[in-house]
Amino acid sequence: MSFSIPPLPRSSGINSSGNLEVAGCDVVELAKEFGTPLFIYDEEQIRESCREYRRAFATRTDHFDIVYASKAFSCIALCQLIGQEGLSLDVASGGELHTALKAWFPPENIYLHGNANSYEELERAVRNEVGRIVIDSVDELAALDRIAGEQGRRQRVLLRITPGIEAHTHDFIQTGKLDSKFGFCLADGVAEEAVAAAMAADNLELEGLHSHIGSQIFSLEPFARTIAVMASFAAQCNKQYGFECRLLDVGGGLGVAYTGSDEPAGADELAKTIVNSVRDEFGRAGLPVPRIAVEPGRSIVANAGITAYTIEAVKTIPGVKTYVAVSGGMSDNLRPMLYGAQYEALIASRPKAEPTMTAAVAGKHCESGDIIIRETGLADPRPGEILVTPSTGAYGYSMASNYNGQRRPAVIFVKEKQARVIIRRESYEDLVHLHERLE
Ligand SMILES: Cc1ncc(COP(=O)(O)O)c(C=O)c1O
Repeated sequence: MSFSIPPLPRSSGINSSGNLEVAGCDVVELAKEFGTPLFIYDEEQIRESCREYRRAFATRTDHFDIVYASKAFSCIALCQLIGQEGLSLDVASGGELHTALKAWFPPENIYLHGNANSYEELERAVRNEVGRIVIDSVDELAALDRIAGEQGRRQRVLLRITPGIEAHTHDFIQTGKLDSKFGFCLADGVAEEAVAAAMAADNLELEGLHSHIGSQIFSLEPFARTIAVMASFAAQCNKQYGFECRLLDVGGGLGVAYTGSDEPAGADELAKTIVNSVRDEFGRAGLPVPRIAVEPGRSIVANAGITAYTIEAVKTIPGVKTYVAVSGGMSDNLRPMLYGAQYEALIASRPKAEPTMTAAVAGKHCESGDIIIRETGLADPRPGEILVTPSTGAYGYSMASNYNGQRRPAVIFVKEKQARVIIRRESYEDLVHLHERLE
């Protein structure tokens, strides 16, 4: 029987034991076999999301690049999958780059980002012949020019522009407004100076411009406004310096459903808004239409992933509330603590049961703020049962920590009734293998 709470993976259902299943795998059995917390990804759904993005753009333009933002979730198997689906890859550090290279991801299809890349990270990216580096600051521009020169290479670059657009999302995940640590500001003329400097640099090839206005965005209108701003800036730089914007990268940010009441736009609507706006705005500015890049992270992986926890304790404070304490928490899902992200929960052995109570789902860490869900309806939760939070495929594992000596969880892919470990659970020995003894 198929079973649909919107954020659950599409292949979710209820099996003959009455348990939640994903891609034909029983979630209670998976928890028994692999332990909890456990990240479970529907592999086909990730692949389908990649294909939806490609289809959405391919039906509207021949000149596009879908660049998966690996900060949402990165590991060797996922980088392999992304390459197999024909997407490019955004990496934002030496570590994400290393993971991509370990997966033999074609370096020419990698974009390196970051507002504080070290000399060593830039040097490593150039040496590995990364396709594009998105420059974030004047200092990075100078360093990269020097590094490329030392290595006898001409590095293709984009400039990250802060367009001064406020996306309708949480303040901590807005990145395109004037007061931002990212990119070159348009308002104070720094962006224009950066274009001139990049064009004059001996060892850089300025291919185009980049913007990323934020994350978990539901209204597409800020994307259209950003593109208008970028086209007008490109026109101004074309007139002044002869700059040709051949690639416009509009970043990621498409929102996803975390709860049943969220109604995000899809890749198709996003593609329509972006492709039409780029055509219209560059046409209006009298410029050739550039190749378009988008950098989805969350919308590729969030809904394909769920987390299974074991309920360890249920504590009711009469007249106050019930806490359902689980085997993970802020060490595997920091988003609720970082910016108040909301989730729903269900019991894997009784997924359709009507809630009998409202409860807070608490993590196991030594912080009162370690609350995964402040208030959710649950059907008679009992210790030992498996509690599932849907839509945890993005910015969960990638923000995971070892706080309180918690071992980072295992991650599995499920597909056609088969489960496969793509990241093994850390062992207690893994926790101390970098430690040195006194004497
Ligand atoms: C530069 C850049 N591109 C893409 C993304 C991915 O955003 P999302 O996961 O919301 O699609 C981010 C997220 O922070 C980002 O900073």
